[in-house]
Amino acid sequence: MTSRKGKTVCISSAKGGVGKTITTINLAGTFELLGKKVLIVDLDLFGGGVGVALNTPYTKSIYTLIDDINNNRYREFKDYIVKYDEFIDILPSPKDPRQANKIEAKYLDLILDRASNFYDVVLIDTNHILNEINVLIMDKVDEILFLVTNDPLDLKNLKSIISIFRDIGLDKYKVLLNNSKDPFKNYFTLYDIKNILKTNIDYSLSKGMFIKNIDVYLMNGKILTLDEKFPRAYTKDYSTFMTMAADVLDEGGNK
Ligand SMILES: Nc1ncnc2c1ncn2[C@@H]1O[C@H](COP(=O)(O)OP(=O)(O)OP(=O)(O)O)[C@@H](O)[C@H]1O
Ligand SMILES: [Mg+2]
Repeated sequence: MTSRKGKTVCISSAKGGVGKTITTINLAGTFELLGKKVLIVDLDLFGGGVGVALNTPYTKSIYTLIDDINNNRYREFKDYIVKYDEFIDILPSPKDPRQANKIEAKYLDLILDRASNFYDVVLIDTNHILNEINVLIMDKVDEILFLVTNDPLDLKNLKSIISIFRDIGLDKYKVLLNNSKDPFKNYFTLYDIKNILKTNIDYSLSKGMFIKNIDVYLMNGKILTLDEKFPRAYTKDYSTFMTMAADVLDEGGNK
């Protein structure tokens, strides 16, 4: 593998179950369409499901990687990753929650730095909890992609996070309004949402991308954005994914 210093993006939210994991996987598919090599780091340490979602069997995880670094057993980064296809690799979360508890934030910096040497893009799927690990990751990445839904609690929580970001001058985040998760929730208009969050909505996924059997689809190990029917069947959302991916590749960093 050659050295390339890829872009790092973490996919975050202020509430659970808003579509982070599915969006991470679909973004990975989009980067593949652009010919980019992607690593998905599953940093949802207690409930991580990227490996399961993509139906890729694995034994090693981010925990084994850290444990091996600690005990001088570490040889190569690629020993710990699971291959989805020619473009997409996964660094899975631990299978055992007791191992998740042992992961120290300080090692994640090292892992992120190593990973970005081997990939064009490193996508980090997180959970919504603002713990030490997630805060450190948000600090280190090139871009934070916040997913938000048309839901009062979700919006209220994200508003608080964004106001903290504003206070500390952190502006490397983008907001993705996910209308595809609960297409029947229409509490607020886009205008209301922008007013509540007091920030711009950079991207939105349409209600049309609600997919009834999405869990079955994923359990079969498929990625929607890699489906040859996707660009025609979901034209608007296809173009949103392409724009999100292009923005990641274009902005900042040293690419
Ligand atoms: N486009 C969609 N169409 C239909 N259902 C969806 C869609 N996106 C998400 N969902 C539903 O929402 C659930 C949560 O999605 P996902 O696991 O991606 O969210 P998450 O933010 O990663 O959750 P967590 O915070 O638990 O990690 C999925 O299991 C699925 O049932
Ligand atoms: Mg998730």
